[in-house]
Amino acid sequence: MNGRTVGGQAVVTGAGRGLGRAVAAELARRGYSVCLTDVDGDAARAAAESFGARSAALDVRDEAACVALAEDAARRDGGLAVWVNNAGILPTGPAWTHDAATRRAVMEVNALGAMNGTLAALAVMRAAGRGHVVNVVSLAGLVAAPGEAVYGASKHALLAFSLGTLAELRAAGERAVTISCICPDGIWTPMLHDKLDDAGAAASFTGTLLTPERVARRIGRLVEHPRPVVALPRWRGGLVRLLDAFPRVAMPLAGTMLSLGRAGQRRQARRLAARHTPADG
Ligand SMILES: NC(=O)c1ccc[n+]([C@@H]2O[C@H](COP(=O)([O-])OP(=O)(O)OC[C@H]3O[C@@H](n4cnc5c(N)ncnc54)[C@H](O)[C@@H]3O)[C@@H](O)[C@H]2O)c1
Repeated sequence: MNGRTVGGQAVVTGAGRGLGRAVAAELARRGYSVCLTDVDGDAARAAAESFGARSAALDVRDEAACVALAEDAARRDGGLAVWVNNAGILPTGPAWTHDAATRRAVMEVNALGAMNGTLAALAVMRAAGRGHVVNVVSLAGLVAAPGEAVYGASKHALLAFSLGTLAELRAAGERAVTISCICPDGIWTPMLHDKLDDAGAAASFTGTLLTPERVARRIGRLVEHPRPVVALPRWRGGLVRLLDAFPRVAMPLAGTMLSLGRAGQRRQARRLAARHTPADG
């Protein structure tokens, strides 16, 4: 069955808002029994209530809590079919401006947290002989992202971990349990809402911002047709991979790229301002 899943339980981390909430709604629409989890348990509960799903408070840094949640899902109807590691944080600015606690938090949530989720899910999926882990990476996991170097490091780590673990599953002859990674461009979620004036976040605004619903639909298709790694939009994935292959060409373009991103931030700010006309109050 090659990792394909049909119904059963789906767990989404960081689902209290943003992309995670949209992914949970998409998986519910596709017939999964979804559990929305978030470090902010109230946000997860409110999001789950809007479409009658379950919720749980889960800090992905807590390995034992990830294991308990995966085991609980495995005991429910249909077993654990899908686990989406979506929780993430994005502190911005040159790496030398982050203190040690910030660097540690980024790695603990984005990389180690997703490893906790992946390994907790794999334990029950391998026992059941079925299941699919989806890891939300980023284009910053494929190429250098100035202003987001520490975040990018965590996402490169997550991609390497995911593909390496998938290779280990295949080498062990396991075909019905799989891992997919998605690397989206900038998405207009609360992660970026307060970053229109933040020069450190310019790299997230160099393309056309995606909606969380569009990324969620791509994840919905990915769940049913597993792929080791997909980028969204695909052409941006191709472009950044090319830049990554030729760093001596890419590095001198960094300033131009950030200028494009700053222009993207100003465009988005104008768009929002136009929506909030004085008549709106
Ligand atoms: N927004 C973008 O431009 C963009 C682009 C590419 C990839 N991504 C990735 O998509 C994922 C979702 O991001 P988003 O844009 O929806 O961000 P967001 O900030 O809107 O939502 C992230 C959610 O993760 C939760 N969270 C944070 N720390 C957690 C922890 N320790 N345990 C559990 N939950 C935790 C937050 O409470 C929040 O609800 C992240 O992995 C992010 O890196 C985002």
